[in-house]
Amino acid sequence: MSCCYFAVTGLLLFLTGTLPSAAAAPDRFHKPFRLKSSDPKPQSQEFFELTNPLPSDRLTPSCSLTVINHSFANTIDSPPFSAPYSPPSDCSPPWPRVVLDFRADSSGDQYDRIAAIWLDGAEIFRTSTAEPTDTGIFWRVRKDITRYSSILYKPQLNVTMMLENVVNDIYTGVYDIHVSFLFYKENIVPNDVRFPSIISPSQKHYDNLGTAELGLFKTPPDLIIPISSDGERGHWFRVESESDVHVKKVRFPDNTIQVVLELYASFHGNDEFWYSNPPYSYIRMNNLTTARGNGAYREVFVTIDGKFVGSEVVFPVVFTGGINPLFWEPIVAIGDFNLPSYDLDLTPFLGWLLDGKYHDIAICVDDAISFWLVNANLHFWLDHGTPKVEAQSVVYNSPALAIQRREAFTMLDGSFRIKANRKSEFAGWVKSTAGNFTTIVSQQFKLTNVVRFYFNGTYKIVQQRVKAKRDSRIRADSGNLVGRTVVQRQYPLKVITSTVPLPLIGSLGSKEEEMYMMITNVSHALRERRINGLSSSTLNNRQESEGWMKVKGHSVISGSGSTWQKYNYRDEFGCYSRTVLALEGKLAIDNTTFSCASSA
Ligand SMILES: *[C@@H]1O[C@H](CO)[C@@H](O)[C@H](O)[C@H]1NC(C)=O
Ligand SMILES: *[C@@H]1O[C@H](CO)[C@@H](O)[C@H](O)[C@H]1NC(C)=O
Ligand SMILES: *[C@@H]1O[C@H](CO)[C@@H](O)[C@H](O)[C@H]1NC(C)=O
Ligand SMILES: *[C@@H]1O[C@H](CO)[C@@H](O)[C@H](O)[C@H]1NC(C)=O
Ligand SMILES: *[C@@H]1O[C@H](CO)[C@@H](O)[C@H](O)[C@H]1NC(C)=O
Ligand SMILES: *[C@@H]1O[C@H](CO)[C@@H](O)[C@H](O)[C@H]1NC(C)=O
Ligand SMILES: *[C@@H]1O[C@H](CO)[C@@H](O)[C@H](O)[C@H]1NC(C)=O
Repeated sequence: MSCCYFAVTGLLLFLTGTLPSAAAAPDRFHKPFRLKSSDPKPQSQEFFELTNPLPSDRLTPSCSLTVINHSFANTIDSPPFSAPYSPPSDCSPPWPRVVLDFRADSSGDQYDRIAAIWLDGAEIFRTSTAEPTDTGIFWRVRKDITRYSSILYKPQLNVTMMLENVVNDIYTGVYDIHVSFLFYKENIVPNDVRFPSIISPSQKHYDNLGTAELGLFKTPPDLIIPISSDGERGHWFRVESESDVHVKKVRFPDNTIQVVLELYASFHGNDEFWYSNPPYSYIRMNNLTTARGNGAYREVFVTIDGKFVGSEVVFPVVFTGGINPLFWEPIVAIGDFNLPSYDLDLTPFLGWLLDGKYHDIAICVDDAISFWLVNANLHFWLDHGTPKVEAQSVVYNSPALAIQRREAFTMLDGSFRIKANRKSEFAGWVKSTAGNFTTIVSQQFKLTNVVRFYFNGTYKIVQQRVKAKRDSRIRADSGNLVGRTVVQRQYPLKVITSTVPLPLIGSLGSKEEEMYMMITNVSHALRERRINGLSSSTLNNRQESEGWMKVKGHSVISGSGSTWQKYNYRDEFGCYSRTVLALEGKLAIDNTTFSCASSA
């Protein structure tokens, strides 16, 4: 809500005749436009994010427990909302499956807000809100949280939620949040009930796997240690710059056989659209006042005792106020309601981590400007047959990041290109009562990013492509492959913004906020392939949006938008495909099929 920020650039516009708002595009907006509903029978509208059905969706939970029922009004600068948690008394563990059921509603005018939920300081859910209308909106998100079972079993914990909101004369939307945990006693796998028609599992990647399948997450971890902050302002670490490194000391249990770091990260403020930021050289040369700079490369880093152990170029989630808020109603952008987390297998490092000493786990964001919200969970699988296992790290191959940056510009026009790739490989063995297993982890990514400005910087094209792959293989003493986890992701993004200034009506000189017209196209996708032991899945999720809006400051005062989305998911149990078209805030097409032919 940096309105003063725009007043300053307005002054600059007057002095230099350039279009600073164009250089700062894309930006974040709210939509008072949606407050003058002409609907004769106003009704609350459901918003949603396209996602595949959960195995538990068709089952009745054995019990459910309300953990949060709270309205987030003017919560800015306040501590998180906190409530006690104990496992449900009416259905005792074990629960083969636990699902977080999140419901929200809001009405009025409001920006999108970032939110997260922690249980005993471990993040279990990160989400952002949809921007409401005067007649009200609501949405529901379900997330499988079985992997956090070791915490869910514990009594007398606190569940905390952070959602910093501003409510005043202008921003009136309060977010009412209701969260419950659904506990299932029925075991669903392998008789998966999501799909009406079950196809036979593909045999393809079974071949070289033995029966002693040792994939990751086959059972929930035995222990979770959060790498998070003490929680005065939520348990996330706030990263303001690349030198802002957050460290937590952890002692690894002596009988750890597998350890995975789960990373949560989101980007806000001047880095909300980090993939579109020009370098400072461009901003200085043109006397621009935008703080959205430092180029368009960001990488979230994890180190242990100062040594690189993994990194992630995160999926660029566009929040619902981003670029053109009229695109994200009632279908929100990919990832908005359930931000992805990233798993880094740290098992190869157990050789130096199982020494009984404390180790510094650090998270930072390369090239970051204010601000990022990051934290992580360490998931441990333990050997219950012995207090101590033997381990050794044998391969540590982590060449530096290869990155090329090229810039070519004259005044406000020009191009900025970045090409980066990183590839690393780690291996180590752990000898436990189950045997001697070697874990070989390879991780790599390739990124290209191009930001181009035309017509005195008023026409901006941002194109980014990221391809990432993480592969963990587990070999037995015999050399046989006994477990494998692969996650491959691709996320191409293209954003075109054309900004046209509009004459000030009843101008009050430089005090008046500038008005302009923005014509925008966004093309975004997430393609993901996962293999986990004997199961595999593919996802192809794509959105195409186009529209225009008339903007005053950060307020959309009129406009039009459409988003077309195709979501195709497939795993060994079946297929799910949904195609939607949202036009002017309403669903014009919504077609769901379970046919594998249409999702091929
Ligand atoms: C949630 O809180 C509201 C208002 O305080 C109350 O009316 C409602 O019954 C509560 N819902 C549940 C399930 O506790
Ligand atoms: C839960 O929160 C209360 C109040 O803030 C605090 O006194 C208590 O120590 C917390 N419990 C745990 C397990 O963190
Ligand atoms: C930027 O400001 C400096 C100093 O005021 C001035 O000399 C220069 O011409 C300006 N450049 C542009 C592109 O406006
Ligand atoms: C475990 O297996 C690795 C690789 O086969 C081998 O080098 C190592 O000596 C074994 N460790 C023990 C304690 O047997
Ligand atoms: C760019 O700005 C210059 C100087 O203000 C002006 O002469 C020129 O016509 C502008 N070009 C375009 C394409 O708008
Ligand atoms: C957006 O896409 C439409 C249709 O593909 C095209 O006609 C239009 O020129 C594009 N807008 C911009 C600003 O590039
Ligand atoms: C829905 O999609 C299926 C498969 O693509 C197609 O055969 C069917 O005609 C579509 N239905 C509608 C109503 O568009």
